[in-house]
Amino acid sequence: MKTIIEPFRIKSVEPIRMTDAAERDRILRRAGFNPFLIHAEDVLIDLLTDSGTGSMSAQQWAGVMRADESYAGAASFYRFQESLQAITGFAQVLPTHQGRASERILFELMGGPGKVVPNNAHFDTTRANVEHSGAEARNLPIPEAALPADRHPFKGNLDVAALETLIAEVGAARIPLVMVTITNNSGGGQPVSLANLRALRAVCDRHGLPLFLDACRFAENAWFIKQREEGQAHRPVRDIVREIFDLADGATISAKKDGLVNIGGVLLLRDPDLFRRASELLILTEGYVTYGGLAGRDLEAMAQGFQEVVEEDYLAYRIRSTAYLGEKLLAAGIPIVEPPGGHAIYIDAAAFCPQLPPEQFPGQALVCALYRQGGLRACEIGSVMFGGEGRPAPAMELVRLAIPRRVYTQSHMDYVAECAAEVFAERRRLRGLRIVEAPAVLRHFTARFAEL
Ligand SMILES: Cc1ncc(COP(=O)(O)O)c(C=O)c1O
Repeated sequence: MKTIIEPFRIKSVEPIRMTDAAERDRILRRAGFNPFLIHAEDVLIDLLTDSGTGSMSAQQWAGVMRADESYAGAASFYRFQESLQAITGFAQVLPTHQGRASERILFELMGGPGKVVPNNAHFDTTRANVEHSGAEARNLPIPEAALPADRHPFKGNLDVAALETLIAEVGAARIPLVMVTITNNSGGGQPVSLANLRALRAVCDRHGLPLFLDACRFAENAWFIKQREEGQAHRPVRDIVREIFDLADGATISAKKDGLVNIGGVLLLRDPDLFRRASELLILTEGYVTYGGLAGRDLEAMAQGFQEVVEEDYLAYRIRSTAYLGEKLLAAGIPIVEPPGGHAIYIDAAAFCPQLPPEQFPGQALVCALYRQGGLRACEIGSVMFGGEGRPAPAMELVRLAIPRRVYTQSHMDYVAECAAEVFAERRRLRGLRIVEAPAVLRHFTARFAEL
């Protein structure tokens, strides 16, 4: 059969409240043209993020009921630990409340003034945590990553030559670790190849540097490797996942993505001394080492979620449904980052509305138009998210349509494509925005705008 179906049935549903265009216009104005400030019940299809927005399985909910809520040494912790050990091969596993908690602990231990942290592309919270420690975050994507229409199969790759240049320029002593984000969220949800990870491991070994993964979407990345990389098609995804983690000295994971849970994170560390110091920090700010700021039920949900996410029927459906939306947008003439990413479709807002310069926030203008048109909530990844005082202009102005896991059906995606096509037909009427108020860091969450 050519049709790839959702490999699940739906047994619990959540109603969507319908709104009309006039009501949505009022809601958008009240929210200062920032969809983060819109109440979720006023959204028809919520593609703001794929983080923590997925549906859990019956087995996960069963785990929630079964959970052991003991403060120390809960059975749920040991199930979580075993699940992560089986998937990643890491013996030392810490639970955290979400990805950024793992990042905060890691960079408090390894960052600091004078240090430089390379990454293919830092996600916003990763960059913020690197910088909060006093270190500098440096993005080193391959050049193809900045070309939205280039169909390079592994656009998430880190530029190995650029890494060598950076090491020569600042010296290995100032680089506490090399980080790779799989898949690359900020750059279009694009995967990193096994060949790239192996090459980075070799560079790190030559210079005595630890290699870390930001592994939120490790299973989606492994599926792309199986589909696209020469010599990988015959391998079970679990094997590929294991090789990815075997190449690393540590990883931060937001389990809200490929952990298939609504809350949770993981910190994996190979070095026993680093693990001891991270455990001390975890106790200081998150919670005891066997719960890390979570309830036992959250640990149960993660234990099960990390097993379900490497099922190949699930990954085939997941990656195909994202590509389905991408193909529909391309068929409507809408410029997107190609090829479609794993968890999201990224519209090239600069090409969508070329009349709007970056300082008028074309991505944010498009996000607002999608909400007005069809109640879609999307996320700007461009000058609003990465710009601001003293920051270099981002390479791309993108709008991310992130697809929650196991939540929406094919007709929801048809609706999304229709809505985007209608906005595209009227693209010359899109109006730019200016910032009215914004915080100094992570401004996209709470900034308010006015239309020009
Ligand atoms: C690549 C990447 N790293 C880190 C994070 C941060 O994770 P969390 O939101 O769980 O703190 C995210 C979240 O979207 C992400 O996409």
